[in-house]
Amino acid sequence: MKAARYGLWFILPLLAGCTATTDGSDLLWRGTDWPTLHSPIARDAAMEARIAGIVRGMTLEQKIGQMTQPDIRSVTPDDVRRYYIGSVLNGGGAWPGMKKDAPVTAWTALSDAYYRASMSTDMAVQIPVIWGTDAVHGHGNVAGATLFPHNIGLGAARDPDLIQRIGRATARQVRATGISWVFAPTLAVGENRRWGRTYESYSSDPAIVAAYSRALVHGLQGGLTGDGDVVATAKHYLGDGGTFDGVDQGENRATRTHMIQVHGAGYYPALKAGVQTVMVSYSSWNDVAAGNDYGKMHGSRALVTEVLKGKLGFDGLVVSDWNGIQQVPGCTKDHCPQAVNAGVDLIMVPDDWKAFIANTVADVREGRIAMTRIDDAVTRILRVKLRAGLFDHSPVASAFAGRAEALDARELGREAVRKSVVLLKNQGVLPLAPGKRVLVVGASADSLSNQTGGWSLTWQGTENSNADFKGGTTLLAALRDALGASNVTFSKDAVGVDPSSFDAVVAVLGETPYAEYNGDVRAPKPVAHSALHPADLAVLQRVSGKGVPVVSVLYSGRPAYANDLINLSDAFIAAFLPGTEGEGLADLLVGGRHDFTGRLSFAWPGSACSTGENTDSIVQFARGYGLSYARPSRVDALPLPSVPTTCKTSP
Ligand code: GLC
Repeated sequence: MKAARYGLWFILPLLAGCTATTDGSDLLWRGTDWPTLHSPIARDAAMEARIAGIVRGMTLEQKIGQMTQPDIRSVTPDDVRRYYIGSVLNGGGAWPGMKKDAPVTAWTALSDAYYRASMSTDMAVQIPVIWGTDAVHGHGNVAGATLFPHNIGLGAARDPDLIQRIGRATARQVRATGISWVFAPTLAVGENRRWGRTYESYSSDPAIVAAYSRALVHGLQGGLTGDGDVVATAKHYLGDGGTFDGVDQGENRATRTHMIQVHGAGYYPALKAGVQTVMVSYSSWNDVAAGNDYGKMHGSRALVTEVLKGKLGFDGLVVSDWNGIQQVPGCTKDHCPQAVNAGVDLIMVPDDWKAFIANTVADVREGRIAMTRIDDAVTRILRVKLRAGLFDHSPVASAFAGRAEALDARELGREAVRKSVVLLKNQGVLPLAPGKRVLVVGASADSLSNQTGGWSLTWQGTENSNADFKGGTTLLAALRDALGASNVTFSKDAVGVDPSSFDAVVAVLGETPYAEYNGDVRAPKPVAHSALHPADLAVLQRVSGKGVPVVSVLYSGRPAYANDLINLSDAFIAAFLPGTEGEGLADLLVGGRHDFTGRLSFAWPGSACSTGENTDSIVQFARGYGLSYARPSRVDALPLPSVPTTCKTSP
């Protein structure tokens, strides 16, 4: 077992305390200053001496190459060799040979080619390259991989053990493709539903984020050197979920105490769990109340070096976000001494990496970056690679590498779906009895794209067909299986069908996929599902009030005002973005073998302009709300405030 190389003392701290309370409240830091933490992995003198020896033998070009992370679309294995590249990534929608359906063997072949190239440089000591990927809800880039519910739904499960198991399964999927590093967990505490990345946040409750942070780091990293382990990433440091008006990559105006206690909440458990990498946020922090403007995180030495590496004792590597350095005043995407001096160790410069290397070499030669900073960055990169066992063998020397069956976690995915959806209303129509004749309406019923959301095969989750997901199950298919195919009729738009000849209608409503800023609903636009997706309201209006009960299922990456839709429904399920396993939903809707356990991870708004969760927000269903068959409750007609064309404020 590789871990013996550095002694069991090396891995035991990582596995210690894997269990957290379900609500995570015991993990919250309630101090008004940053906690003083220390890495759970004691420094290994032999390892550190080895690192120092390697660094001493490196040229400046080799050091800067080690700090550079291109995207696989712009770097070949021979480039890795010639430019001493330390890391590569595949951004969303980047596949070997740019083939969406590339088999796992194509991924492992490319991984091994990069690895062999990195081990055949003219360096005194060869340093293996490390490949990172965004497996944020399962290995989203790989056709055939089970995709789990996105974080907003998982937050509704209130189940850290489930999260740890998802981490383990995700690590196996990633190792099947010869990749050793996952850019997860996202530790954002989502505070405004306008934010396009709300669904990447587990919850607006920092305690849930804290509990899940520890669980996923343990699930992904395990003991770090095991065959099914990958390096994890705490991201995006710091405060990405609290930007003003939910503007992605915008300005967080929190007070220092709020930033420490709320937005830092997920980081302390992650660091204590031994997370080895931290990704910096595009966002900025301006503590308006105190008059302290820390500026963009990518350029903040105060936050990256003094807090993260100093007070919080982080001794792994800090990676920038995709071209994130260009947002630092005075920087471009291929040149930013300010980010390196702030404490960023590995620069994600997807395309312009050659210019970045040349510019940064010049920065050192001309005194804009001290060699000690470069040596520290390379030391951290080497430390992570050694701790992860990358020096011991190729990333494809794994029992999982090249094995398509390692992508399959369908039963776990199905369990996660059951636990992650929330029953907002049920006036007795659910569960549906097998054999009942059901009319299914709504485009989302037969759309794995709407069911999985962003970060699914492509970056935005768009330009995909159901067939691209190889083996995913739509809710329509799952209902046909559960009710009997001959008992299910599907009409995408409910035009020309008569609901009254059925026992029930299932209306599947949904957002269309998006990622990052493309999902922002910028003020003053109202955040109301029927305003953003009027076709869904039209479908519901065609089937509601026809004497047949209507069960509505909503796929969404955020809680959006939906009182109008809920009033037109006899049952309403907030399914968020459940992923590929639609059967998990049918398990709940049909037969009653499984009951709803999900409880809202964000408060659900009662107004289209109430997009926050503060004291003056208008809330329809509180965070923690969720009905079940065991705990039924009537939901009478909800108020229908007018949905304005523009919002005056976003309380
Ligand atoms: C993106 C995201 C980040 C992701 C990175 C690489 O812009 O902000 O979460 O890990 O780029 O895909």
